[in-house]
Amino acid sequence: MQTCAAFQPPPRLLMGPGPSNVAPSVLQAMSRPLVGHLDPAFVRMMEEIKTMLCQVFLTKNEMTFPVSGTGSAGMEFCFVNLIEPGDEVIIGVNGVFGTRMMDVAERCGAKVTKVEAPWGRIIEPQQIADALKKTSRPKFVAIVHAETSTGALTPVEEISKLTHNAGALMLLDTVTSLAGCPVRIDDWQVDAVYSGTQKCLSCPPGLSPASLSPRALEAATKRKTKVQSWYLDVNLLASYWGQDRVYHHTAPISMNYALHEALRLVLEEGLESRWRRHEQNHLALTAGLKAMGLQIASQEGHQLWQLNAVAVPEGVDEAAVRKRLLTDFNIEVGAGLGPLKGKIWRVGLMGETSSKANVKAFMSALGQILNDSGRKTDAEAALAAAAV
Ligand SMILES: Cc1ncc(COP(=O)(O)O)c(C=O)c1O
Repeated sequence: MQTCAAFQPPPRLLMGPGPSNVAPSVLQAMSRPLVGHLDPAFVRMMEEIKTMLCQVFLTKNEMTFPVSGTGSAGMEFCFVNLIEPGDEVIIGVNGVFGTRMMDVAERCGAKVTKVEAPWGRIIEPQQIADALKKTSRPKFVAIVHAETSTGALTPVEEISKLTHNAGALMLLDTVTSLAGCPVRIDDWQVDAVYSGTQKCLSCPPGLSPASLSPRALEAATKRKTKVQSWYLDVNLLASYWGQDRVYHHTAPISMNYALHEALRLVLEEGLESRWRRHEQNHLALTAGLKAMGLQIASQEGHQLWQLNAVAVPEGVDEAAVRKRLLTDFNIEVGAGLGPLKGKIWRVGLMGETSSKANVKAFMSALGQILNDSGRKTDAEAALAAAAV
């Protein structure tokens, strides 16, 4: 029988839409010996994860824990627990992940009112106000805070106020925003929120931190129908992540070790400092790109710090540049999706990846590739403008 050689991943600089690079101590944490998922030591660590997640989400919600699965599992967790067939919900759609939310809500049997904005632009509070007027009993309003497919950051506070004034719950996707820019769950009165480990938390993909407010939890526990998903039913999960510690499913032990370490690093750096680092490296990148004659495609004033949608200049082969970045420079960046396919590069500066050194590496490589393709680009001037 033929066996394969052990897999050796190439040394990539992950500057795409996620996963981001991971700190060595997070990888080391994953390689520690397993303990049982009901071992008192593991249970103690679970408690610490919950406490640290509350600090990162800036919430006091007791029901705050990592759902087993990637960010999409966190999305399904929020939707399946809150929606009963026939419920009306309002969803902001300005990219791939709002579109996915709609799909999930429809699968749960919801009547969905879609609030649409062009890809690259934000969902405006007035659009939500109009939709709320047209909906008789909205269960919740859901929006994507940081749309990874377009690089736009939709402000939450005003939308949340409108939502609560209409008696609905506020649901927020923070997969790309958490730990990369301000996310204030209690201040913004968000009722249901989920994130992912592989973006600004700089942990491998595999867990989805989530949090439900007491109001959202009440809606989930007082439902008339069973939650459609056994795996994601908060009423069952609460017995495992709560005080009872009743077996529900076998928690991914090593992933939880990794998240514990990643959260420790986030809090050691400090949330505010971490946000500032993301902002500064975004500003350095955009200043450098501007000096190269390149622009950010997402809405002015609402551009993400952690995911830069760089407009591909006229006449440049988007895919060829991405391919050379990977093969010649070991740098991964993302392609545009949907209507933005071929029009943008998605350049991630998330978590560990967000550094001056990486901004410099990317701009030098891009400058060289553009020059080789016959486009005159002054990479030196760009690096000076970026001050890296
Ligand atoms: C904003 C947003 N929501 C949800 C998801 C889904 O997360 P995952 O791919 O980890 O399932 C992603 C992934 O990129 C995302 O960027």
